[in-house]
Amino acid sequence: MKVDVLLGLQWGDEGKGKVVDVLTPRYDVVARFQGGPNAGHTLEFNNQKYVLRSIPSGIFQEGQTNIIGNGVVLDPILFAAEARDLEKSGIDIKKVLKISKKVHLILPTHRLLDAAYETLKGSAKIGTTGKGIGPTYTDKISRDGLRLGEVFHNFAEKYEAAKQRHIKLLAALGFDTDVAELEKQWFEGIEYIKTFQLIDSEHVINGYLRDGKSVLCEGAQGSLLDVDFGSYPFVTSSNTVCAGACSGLGVAPNKIGEVYGIFKAYCTRVGSGPFPTELHDETGAKIRAIGHEFGAVTGRERRCGWIDLVALRYTIMLNGVTQLIMMKSDVLDDFATIKACDSYLVNGVETRDFPYSIDEGVEPVYTELKGWNTDMTKMQSEDQFPQEFKDYIAFLEDKLGVPITIVSVGPDRTQTIERKH
Ligand code: GDP
Ligand code: IMO
Ligand code: MG
Repeated sequence: MKVDVLLGLQWGDEGKGKVVDVLTPRYDVVARFQGGPNAGHTLEFNNQKYVLRSIPSGIFQEGQTNIIGNGVVLDPILFAAEARDLEKSGIDIKKVLKISKKVHLILPTHRLLDAAYETLKGSAKIGTTGKGIGPTYTDKISRDGLRLGEVFHNFAEKYEAAKQRHIKLLAALGFDTDVAELEKQWFEGIEYIKTFQLIDSEHVINGYLRDGKSVLCEGAQGSLLDVDFGSYPFVTSSNTVCAGACSGLGVAPNKIGEVYGIFKAYCTRVGSGPFPTELHDETGAKIRAIGHEFGAVTGRERRCGWIDLVALRYTIMLNGVTQLIMMKSDVLDDFATIKACDSYLVNGVETRDFPYSIDEGVEPVYTELKGWNTDMTKMQSEDQFPQEFKDYIAFLEDKLGVPITIVSVGPDRTQTIERKH
């Protein structure tokens, strides 16, 4: 068997959580492969809304195994809060969730370092989620990180050494360190995590594949936030592209099957950094209001704009996308005209290829399409789609070269339409 991968093609918040939840009944296993509590994946069903940060979005369906893979960074405080909430809602989480011993731990001092680096950057700040993601991955790469598996090997000593190193660093940068209260919660979190199934996830996942079990890998963030290919330095600190599923789970490249690329019918971004199709006018404000475009983790306003097909062609290429999933189509239900950017003018020269930098001198060239002005939120099949929406889909498929197989018309599980292809 091969693994299928579902990942975001824009700047995150495409609706990955919702679709993973919808697709989970078709799989035996759901696995997260990168990122950490910077993610906020929203699921809605039975009039309830849940936001998951580190736990895979397969957790609410019954019968699946969920895995937090080695590529993830885990904060014991936030993980414990998230898992305990799920326990309260009746999920036997210790039975259905397994955690790689190779995940790197986010220390309280990593959060302080994240905040310190942002302060020092001043107006050039990245606008991180403040969860300590960058400093934790930095420690991983510089070989100073603390892995979960160490809880069985002189853990307190290793924690203390890492903390002292961070304190020195913070002091040199001019910041005080007071983590006494957080540290208490952190060690409580560690004791709680020790009661979970801590595994060598690369062996477990490859064993599942040998046994003919199906695995869905759930991406976090989006390809335009990838540390190599995103709008650097305004990116996250992990590989959010498909290759991240290989390194973040220990799955070989020839074991990748379907790649579901998920995108919004428009585009959003939270935090700093370039965004060529951003709308600073009332149209942007209207999309934000209708789409409730406020961060699931930080509550921050998301910047809104038209769909960017130059960027999407780039991320489809990077990920080897085989199927597209279009989200939040209903948010555009009430627009007379919809615009799509199919090329950029880069310093006056037209290009359809994503350039090295989208910082300056990039002007989107738009195609205008007629809006459908129809409420699609209760639609159950593609036969009910208004002609203008069918035209929008046909236009996107033509420009992107990959079929759109699922269309989402609302936040609920049930507002999901599969297309024949
Ligand atoms: P993720 O990080 O990719 O899982 O996405 P988020 O959960 O951060 O953001 C997506 C938001 O859009 C959530 O509030 C979802 O409940 C909501 N959502 C998902 N799909 C749809 C849709 O088709 N229509 C509308 N109106 N909302 C949606
Ligand atoms: P999900 O999985 C949207 C953004 C932050 C910031 C940059 C770096 O819900 O789609 P970090 O804390 O990772 O160092 O922040 O990345 N960012 C996200 N934006 N959705 C996310 O996750 C994000 N995770 C990080 O806003 O610009
Ligand atoms: Mg999100």
